[in-house]
Amino acid sequence: MSDSISSEVLGSGVIILTINRPEALNALNSVVLMTLREKLEALKDDESVRVIVLRGAGEKSFIAGADIVEMQNMQRPEATELSRLGHAVCLLLEHMNKVTIAAVHGFALGGGLEMALACDFILASEKAQFGLPEVTLGVIPGFGGTIRLARAIGTAKAKEMVFSGLRVKAQEAKEMGLIRTVSAQDTFFETVKETATKIAKNSLEAIVTAKRLMNEFEETAGTYPKVDAEIHKFAGLFGGHDQHEGMLAFTEKRTAKFKGIQ
Ligand code: CAA
Repeated sequence: MSDSISSEVLGSGVIILTINRPEALNALNSVVLMTLREKLEALKDDESVRVIVLRGAGEKSFIAGADIVEMQNMQRPEATELSRLGHAVCLLLEHMNKVTIAAVHGFALGGGLEMALACDFILASEKAQFGLPEVTLGVIPGFGGTIRLARAIGTAKAKEMVFSGLRVKAQEAKEMGLIRTVSAQDTFFETVKETATKIAKNSLEAIVTAKRLMNEFEETAGTYPKVDAEIHKFAGLFGGHDQHEGMLAFTEKRTAKFKGIQ
């Protein structure tokens, strides 16, 4: 189980968690999600860690979403479980008593973007690409994307991304306000380590106080209670024609033929 995520501890109070499935572009299956949940739960009580960096293994991808092969034949109960598990991991990242940083050097799609959005902020390289392509598979974002993307870039831009499944490159993501800077590819992880190490030198007590307040402000703005609605709607699409066709078409490497609303 633990092989799916590797950890590198830097002396400075920074830990780097690497999703380790490069052959599937680090797609999140249940094992990866459960392992990540376990690791994050354990880190909560580790006082030597101040900053957690999440990244993906390999050249191409941060995380290319939830595992479509695993989801393909799911029915509503399993999809509910998966969505709850993804939400649990995202909530751990969001409310962790440490700083959480997503280091995106390639694809951050679907559940991958959703996980990045749950981190305190995203650092991105020139080759980062962001998108929520779930509707191209006959489903919707199920790990908090409908909530957190709208919160990050505004509802209209988030709707355009969700409805089109559009992938945006790093520069455009910066213009949208999803990320602050775009770093050089070759030195990206060095830049990430430097940033994380600098943050780890500041007062964790002050940072966590600010983080809790800022999260609370977001939640009282009315976004958080919608989590259950997203889980219910995500799972509700499983077992229907479009989810079956969308995911089958992905695995058969062809264009999906969707029906209208039933
Ligand atoms: N699940 C399972 N396997 C995946 C995957 C995923 N999300 N993304 C990529 N892979 C696999 C591919 O099937 C392929 O495996 P094989 O070598 O066995 O064929 C391998 O990773 C490499 O991928 P590609 O050959 O497709 O690489 P590419 O460079 O041509 O394309 C890509 C890259 C555009 C990211 C493409 O892989 C892709 O579109 N992936 C799916 C992205 C996606 O739709 N993500 C959303 C998933 S749904 C979701 O996340 C629901 C939710 O909200 C919880």
